[in-house]
Amino acid sequence: MKCHVEASGFRLRINNTEILRGVDFCAPKNSISVIVGPSGSGKTTFLKSINRLTELYGKVDWSGDLKLDGESIFTLNPVELRRRVGMVFQIPNPFPHLSIFDNVALPAKVNGIARGDSDVKSIVKWALEKAMLWDEVKDRLDKRPNILSGGQKQRLCIARALAMRPEVLLLDEPTANIDVVNSKKIEEALRELKNELTIIMVTHNPNQALRIGDYIAVMFEGRIVEEGPVREVALKTRNPITQSLLSGGW
Ligand SMILES: Nc1ncnc2c1ncn2[C@@H]1O[C@H](COP(=O)(O)OP(=O)(O)O)[C@@H](O)[C@H]1O
Ligand SMILES: [Mg+2]
Repeated sequence: MKCHVEASGFRLRINNTEILRGVDFCAPKNSISVIVGPSGSGKTTFLKSINRLTELYGKVDWSGDLKLDGESIFTLNPVELRRRVGMVFQIPNPFPHLSIFDNVALPAKVNGIARGDSDVKSIVKWALEKAMLWDEVKDRLDKRPNILSGGQKQRLCIARALAMRPEVLLLDEPTANIDVVNSKKIEEALRELKNELTIIMVTHNPNQALRIGDYIAVMFEGRIVEEGPVREVALKTRNPITQSLLSGGW
């Protein structure tokens, strides 16, 4: 199977502490791959490795490889890599001093994705629609994001990531701090979005993994210990870590 994102024997040390210990992982194109695993197993670090955000935090040594569409990410320009691979974090982090409109418009403008006012407007509308937020904000685009609920803020962050027209979207427990209604909207948005891009999402919620994942990878102590189509893994796993995670035992 062709992997859009592929890790092989990927190891990572940050400030001389080994955090990833030989990760093998494959995210097929136009699918949702979910990553589950206990706290501290390296899920966030792995996601941040995929767009080389880890390099912004300290001294990083790596070995093995991580590929985007067949090319080692370490041969790519990190800024261009981060445009191609967007990220949404656990705590919604819209720019507080920018309007809702500019939150989505600015990254697209800075990166030269949008040129001219009408282009910017159409990208903002497109991204907010894809994030299933447009109807709720279209009459108050000039307001700051503090008027939005937590779930709306998270959808704004998804729209902001989409405005860069990424080919891969990374989400780190995007619904962990969000109510059920908003979580369902985000899940619905992701289900639609996988037709256009490849999604890799960390979740703490086993039901969510089973609901929206096409593929699942189980991370434990810096390695992927089980990986495969969600239904196959859920039905057939003998791995005690996977069994425990999927029954909500962590
Ligand atoms: N910048 C860093 N420097 C040193 N250790 C880190 C850094 N970031 C994360 N870690 C450590 O790496 C391990 C994995 O963390 P993390 O990737 O956040 O796990 P998870 O997302 O699965 O909870 C933890 O033990 C954490 O303390
Ligand atoms: Mg984490």
